[in-house]
Amino acid sequence: MNTIVLFYSYSGKTKAIAGKLAEKESAAIAEIKDVVRPGIFKAFTSGCSFAIKGKSWAIQHLNVNFDEYDRLILLSPIWASNPAPAFNALLEQLPSGKTIAVKMVSAGGKSKCKERITTVIQSRGSILESFEDIKSSQ
Ligand SMILES: Cc1cc2nc3c(=O)[nH]c(=O)nc-3n(C[C@H](O)[C@H](O)[C@H](O)COP(=O)(O)O)c2cc1C
Repeated sequence: MNTIVLFYSYSGKTKAIAGKLAEKESAAIAEIKDVVRPGIFKAFTSGCSFAIKGKSWAIQHLNVNFDEYDRLILLSPIWASNPAPAFNALLEQLPSGKTIAVKMVSAGGKSKCKERITTVIQSRGSILESFEDIKSSQ
């Protein structure tokens, strides 16, 4: 299977995990970037509010040809128990017909979004291969 790792990272921990994973899987890798990177105050206020509601905010154009991949590995940091808003923007652009593994990276190693992400992926016509919570090193 041709695999690509797609990740968002605010402070670098998810990026490090995604990089190692792409190497291990011999996969391509692409980073999701905010159009406007929020400061830490905005991340904890509107960022967390968006995250709880499953809302997205603007991300830079993703230069990925999804036709080249049949498997996607998606990683996001957890904000207020949910994926960061930039990751929600990626979910809105997901193609159909893919096998998708999701890994949520957080300080506590627990998220509250498995059901919602499963529903989103299935509603976009793809299959959830796995969902994993990863505790980031401090
Ligand atoms: C705005 C914000 C909210 C966060 N909320 C949570 C949370 O609810 N639970 C948790 O375990 N960690 C939370 N964290 C910690 C991050 O999920 C954790 O440090 C993650 O590894 C950061 O990944 P990154 O370095 O790729 O951005 C939060 C961090 C930020 C910046």
